[in-house]
Amino acid sequence: MAIRLGDEAPDFSAQTTEGPVNFHQWIGDKWAILFSHPADFTPVCTTELGLVAKLKGEFDKRNVKIMGLSVDPVDSHQGWIKDINETQNATVNFPIIADPEKKVANLYDMIHPNALNNLTVRSVFVIGPDKKLKLTLTYPASTGRNFDELLRVIDSLQLTAKYSVATPANWKDGEDCIISPSVSDADADQRFPKGYKRIKPYLRVTPQPNK
Ligand code: BEZ
Repeated sequence: MAIRLGDEAPDFSAQTTEGPVNFHQWIGDKWAILFSHPADFTPVCTTELGLVAKLKGEFDKRNVKIMGLSVDPVDSHQGWIKDINETQNATVNFPIIADPEKKVANLYDMIHPNALNNLTVRSVFVIGPDKKLKLTLTYPASTGRNFDELLRVIDSLQLTAKYSVATPANWKDGEDCIISPSVSDADADQRFPKGYKRIKPYLRVTPQPNK
């Protein structure tokens, strides 16, 4: 069954390029991204993994750990990592799950047989420190993901987990936010000392509270 936002992310043990892991233990008190790739030695995946390695500092800043997955075995992953490092001018610095039996792929419903026969599509799961699922994305094999967007949504997820705000279309860290409709005007005065603009009763805009 599909995992839904707010569900506990299924726990598992798996072999990775950095040794065996228990997923929930590995997450610890951090945020986590689990993302899947159709197969080793494929061109789009090669660019994605290289880019994620280069963005590691950005994920670290946000307290986010990264784990990749592809259905090939560890020795194949190790050979592919050499190619990724060489061609993408990167050093892969996060574990990649080897899932030849497709245990994790099936657990997370990453195989969409009408899209790609018996291989994982490009799934992304963002998981909070509470191990609950915060966001999912599913892309087809032919479309590489936008990892700047992933950083942007993590900024929004972490902000909205802490403050009673939502983030508008195309919002970026540092821009104005929307006060949650569940907050009364009286409460808003208290909670948002920088003030807010009441465009409509349901549309109140305030500077980003943690900036
Ligand atoms: C790729 O990662 O390049 C890819 C994988 C499977 C099908 C198409 C493209």
